[in-house]
Amino acid sequence: CGIVGYIGDRNSQTILLDGLKKLEYRGYDSAGVAVFTSNGLEVKKAKGRLAVLESRLQEDPLNGSVGIGHTRWATHGKPSDVNSHPHTDNAMKFSVVHNGIIENYLSLKEELIGKGHRFVSETDTEVISHLIAELYDGDIVRTVQKAVQRLRGAYALGVITEYEPDKLVAVRQASPLIIGVGQGENFIGSDIPAVLAYTRDIYILNDGEMAVLTRDDVELMTLEGDIISRELFYVDWDIATAEKGGYDHFMLKEIHEQPKAYRDTMGSRINADGSKIVLDEIRMTEDQIRSIRNIHVVACGTAYHAGLVGKSVIERLARVPVEADVASEYRYRSPIITKDTLVVVVSQSGETADTLAALREAKRQGARVLAITNVVGSSVAREADDVIITWAGPEIAVASTKAYTSQLIAFYLFGLYLAEVLGTIEAADLRKTIAALQELPEQVENILQQSAKMESFAKQIAAHNSLFFIGRGLDFAIAQEGSLKLKEISYIHSEAYAAGELKHGTLALIEEGVPVIALAAQEELLEKTLSNIKEVKARGAYVIGIGLEGNEELSEFVDAAIYLPRTLSLLTPALSVIPLQLLAYYASLAKGNDVDKPRNLAKSVTVE
Ligand code: G6P
Repeated sequence: CGIVGYIGDRNSQTILLDGLKKLEYRGYDSAGVAVFTSNGLEVKKAKGRLAVLESRLQEDPLNGSVGIGHTRWATHGKPSDVNSHPHTDNAMKFSVVHNGIIENYLSLKEELIGKGHRFVSETDTEVISHLIAELYDGDIVRTVQKAVQRLRGAYALGVITEYEPDKLVAVRQASPLIIGVGQGENFIGSDIPAVLAYTRDIYILNDGEMAVLTRDDVELMTLEGDIISRELFYVDWDIATAEKGGYDHFMLKEIHEQPKAYRDTMGSRINADGSKIVLDEIRMTEDQIRSIRNIHVVACGTAYHAGLVGKSVIERLARVPVEADVASEYRYRSPIITKDTLVVVVSQSGETADTLAALREAKRQGARVLAITNVVGSSVAREADDVIITWAGPEIAVASTKAYTSQLIAFYLFGLYLAEVLGTIEAADLRKTIAALQELPEQVENILQQSAKMESFAKQIAAHNSLFFIGRGLDFAIAQEGSLKLKEISYIHSEAYAAGELKHGTLALIEEGVPVIALAAQEELLEKTLSNIKEVKARGAYVIGIGLEGNEELSEFVDAAIYLPRTLSLLTPALSVIPLQLLAYYASLAKGNDVDKPRNLAKSVTVE
C-alpha cells in the first residue's frame, strides 16, 4: 500500500492525488482520501484504480488544506469501497491511513466491539482508528503513542483528528515512511516519489519513530516521545530512479525485497516459540486433511516452478503423493480427480486465465482447491476453497522474483502444516525446520552481498547464444527456474537438465566453451552431481558451480563458483535461486535489454 499526507495552505486534494499517482505501483485495488473541510472530517474512497477516485473527487471536490490519502494493496479484506482507506471511528473524528499488517487486530477488534465500537470493514486498519478514538485524552500525539503500544505487526500510519486539525501524526514501525519538508507546508509519504514534485528535503523515519507535522514545523520523536534531531536528506534522484527506491530497475529492487517478503510471508504463521505452524486461513478440517489421497499442483510459468519445489516439499514432509502440472496441460490430460484430491493452484496475480480455467475444472470434478496467490481478492483467491496469501507486495517487473520465492515459503509452511496434522513429522524436526526457515531472510541478505560476482559471471555468459543449467533433485527444479529467468529477460537460449539425464542425449551439445551453470546445493547428491560436472568439463564446458559453504572442494571441479550459506537441504531452493535471479538480471543488463519489460511477455496473461 501507499500512504500520503499533507498539511499546509494549498488545496490538499490535488496534492494527495498527485502523491497517490506516484505510489500507485505499490497497490492499485482501491484508493481514498480524508480531508478537513468546512463540514469537518470528510472521507471519499473508491474501489478500483486511482482514476475512479479522481473522477469522483472532480465531480464533488473536498476543499481543505489538511488531509491524508491511501492507495491499497489488499491484505485483510477484499478490495471494496468500505475496505478502502482512510478509516475512521464511528463519530468520524479520527482518520487513519495504514500500510502494513496488524497481526493482533482480531483480539483488538473484539475488545473494541465490547466497548461499543461498530466496525464497518473487514480490514485490520479499522481497529487503529477505533483504538485511537477509544484512548483519546485530548492530546493526539500522546494518544497515538499509547495506541501503538497495543499494536503488533508492521505498520506505517498517518493520523489526523478533527479535535486538533492543525496536526498530522505519522508513525513508522517496519513499513517505510518519509517526511517531506516544505515552506509553510509539510508532507508524508510511503516513499520519496510521493512528495518529490513538491520538495526535495526529506526526513527518513526509522522503525520505532514518529513525526508530528504542523504547517510550519516537523518534530521527530521516538514512540516513547523522546525528541530526535536529524539532518535533512536532500534528494538528487530523478523521479524514475526514486520510484524504484534508488535501484536501476524494479526487478533489482524486488530481488532485494526478498528478505522482507520471506519475513512477511512467514509473519504470524509461525507461533511465538517456533514450535508450530499457524495457518488460520486454512478452513479445511483436520479430518478433511486426513482424507486427502493425492495433491495436484497446477500453475503457469514461474509459479509452476514453485510448484515443482512444492511437490517435493509436500511429498517429503507429509508423504502424500503430489503431481505438478502446467495449467494449460492439466485440463486436457483428463487428470484423475476425486473428492479426496486437493488441487493447489499457484499464481502471483491470481488472474492467469490458464490457471483459473484449471481451478474451475478441478472444482467441477469435485476437488477441494487451495490457492497460493499474491493478490487478495483476485479471481483465483475468490474461487478457491482455501487461500494462502504470499505477502510479497506488488511485483512490477515482468520476470517474477520475490513472488516466486514467497511461493516457496508458502509451500514450506503448508507442507509443515500438513505434516503436523498427519503426524509425519517429529516435534523436534518441526522445530528445527522452523528455526532454519527463520534464518533464511538473513541468509538471502548474505547472498545479495555477493552480487558483484554474479554480475561478472553474467558478463561472461552474455556473449553466448546458448547455455545449460544442470542439477539433481530440488536443484533441478531451481535449474528450471534459473533457465526460464535467463530466457525471459536476456533472450539467451538455455536449457535446464536433470544432471544425470544429460548423458542420455544433451551431452552431444556440449562443446568447447559452452557455459554450464551447475547447481550442487543438495548435499546428499553432491557426489553424483560432481560426476556430471566432470562429464561436461571433459567436453570443454565452462562451468559455474553453485554450492554450499563448507563444500568448497567444488571449486576443484568448476571454473568459477559461488557458495551459499548452509541450511536444511529441503530449504536450499529459497537460497540457490537468488544467484540465478541476479545472473539473469545482469545478463539482461549486459545485453542492453529492457529488464523490467521483456519483449513479447506480459506480467499477467488473461488469455488461454
Ligand atoms: C506470465 C508471466 C510469468 C508468470 C506467469 C504466471 O506468463 O510473464 O512471469 O510466471 O504469467 O503468472 P501468475 O500471475 O499466475 O503467477
